[in-house]
Amino acid sequence: MVKSDVILGLQWGDEGKGKIVDCLSMRNQYDGTIRFQGGANAGHTLEFDNSKVVLHIIPSNIFQKGTQSIIGNGVVLDPIIFMQEILDLLTKFPQFSIDELLKKIIISKNAHIILPSHKLLDRYQEEKKGKNRCGTTLKGIGPTYGDKIHRIGFRVEEIKEKDFEEKAKKLYYEHLSTISSKFPEMVFDLDIKILFQQWLDALQFLKKLPIIDTAMYLHSAINDGKFYLGEGAQGTFLDIDFGTYPMVTASNTTIGGFVSGTGLNHKNIRKVYGLFKAYTTRVGEGPFPTELFDRTGELIQKKGNEYGSTTGRPRRCGWLDLVMLKYACLLNGIDELIISKADVLNSINGIKVCVAYKNDYHFPDEKAKPIYQKVRGWKSLINKNGKLSKGFSTYIKLIEEYLGIPITIISTGPDRKDIIWK
Ligand code: IMP
Repeated sequence: MVKSDVILGLQWGDEGKGKIVDCLSMRNQYDGTIRFQGGANAGHTLEFDNSKVVLHIIPSNIFQKGTQSIIGNGVVLDPIIFMQEILDLLTKFPQFSIDELLKKIIISKNAHIILPSHKLLDRYQEEKKGKNRCGTTLKGIGPTYGDKIHRIGFRVEEIKEKDFEEKAKKLYYEHLSTISSKFPEMVFDLDIKILFQQWLDALQFLKKLPIIDTAMYLHSAINDGKFYLGEGAQGTFLDIDFGTYPMVTASNTTIGGFVSGTGLNHKNIRKVYGLFKAYTTRVGEGPFPTELFDRTGELIQKKGNEYGSTTGRPRRCGWLDLVMLKYACLLNGIDELIISKADVLNSINGIKVCVAYKNDYHFPDEKAKPIYQKVRGWKSLINKNGKLSKGFSTYIKLIEEYLGIPITIISTGPDRKDIIWK
């Protein structure tokens, strides 16, 4: 029985999953890719043939012909952003037909729907927290998962029910009245009736897609010999349980999220790939032991174009933290490692890697003070003979030995072509 691989981010997200999913899909010939948690808070970037695409909800294998893009039950789906994403793809890539796209994408009937009022709640809750805010993407992720846990949210399958509009309107206005009563100083700067209507229109679009029991579908496909890839969103330390709570997202970004967000079980997992950047970044608030506040940090931010692909916010930058990565590998049962953006460190002097913390913290904590090992840098990743340069291969060896897991894929730039399969 062929099974499923999973790819997970080992840091705070933005490790470059979009590109790797695209490349792995080509290489391993998966029959489909499954998004299993999060929503439009993710921004997965793909670059090829001089085009750049940022996907938020659509799985990153969308450009792989003959494969399926599955949105699992663990996802929270914003119908407005989703529809816009599909329409943008059609405009940018006229080779796609709408029929082709609509046949390629399958949605779990159990995925939850984001209402416009979830986004408003997100905004107001963040404003209310003031300096303790998490720095969310304001996409309504937390409030939607909140309603799921409170058992008052809506699953995608419900949009086909006759009284759905009425039920949704009730929840929408309940959210709005919560906002008005809890945050009386807040004023709505949007036309709430138009907002709801836009959302209803987007639901009509959503109805055109297959909305099914994706868990059953996947099990039966796997029985028939099909092979899938689970595409994680965000990263290990944004996990609601294992991340730097409360500065985290609202879903399980670690391996358990794959099981609960697809309905596949642990026996269906063949291999877990762990993806990390050659340095560390973080968007939003929260602890970050190896953060750089100097010109090197600014240089990495600039060279690495470290600005959020969903919100455009500058990402905080710092050195690679092996203590964090070790914990992430343990949590996720990583089989193979993938390193991205090492080219950003080309010609940077005085590269350091965190190998321990001064105090007893093993988890990234505000109080954890890193102990660094200095690393000999490199000018380029590849030498004249087409082999990994000495400096870079020493870096790779240090990471592999520390983590006890091989690095099998090296991403050397943003394009599909910039990849080394070791
Ligand atoms: P939320 O997921 O929008 O609720 O945001 C919670 C935290 O996760 C914030 O610090 C966000 O900046 C962060 N976050 C959410 N999605 C991503 C992502 O795809 N990449 C990086 N950070 C993210």
